[in-house]
Amino acid sequence: MSRRVVVAAAIVAGNRLLLGRRGDPAEMAGRWELPGGKVRPGEDPSTALCRELDEELGVQARVGDRIGDDVPVGTEYVLRAYRADIVAGTPVARAHTELRWVDAAELAAVDLLDADRVWLTDLRALLG
Ligand code: CDP
Repeated sequence: MSRRVVVAAAIVAGNRLLLGRRGDPAEMAGRWELPGGKVRPGEDPSTALCRELDEELGVQARVGDRIGDDVPVGTEYVLRAYRADIVAGTPVARAHTELRWVDAAELAAVDLLDADRVWLTDLRALLG
């Protein structure tokens, strides 16, 4: 059975990366992630990421290159990351309990979801 693709965005402004803090489900609550979500059947992954960023953060974004490798999550999902730039709006925590812009040192210290943690080297490279 093929895994459902979940797309996530590395949004960088200056030397900081945008992270969201999950409020649910319980086993992930309080941990940080790159914003994103599940691609719908038949949906283009870039389109899905734009939709998720609009829903979750209230921003219009332009999706760029992929970063890192795909990361299997459990048995159900595969997680894929893209660079993304905000073209309109200011991020608001609509789906997260909190948003935070982190620099490289802060990124190393936050409690990132395990799957996102696989991209730490790739993410650090974006932050200079
Ligand atoms: O927003 P939507 O319900 O479409 O999806 P989600 O709950 O944000 O993501 C689906 C699953 O992908 C989550 O349960 C996490 O296991 C995983 N995920 C992740 O590991 N890292 C992310 N940055 C986003 C999602």
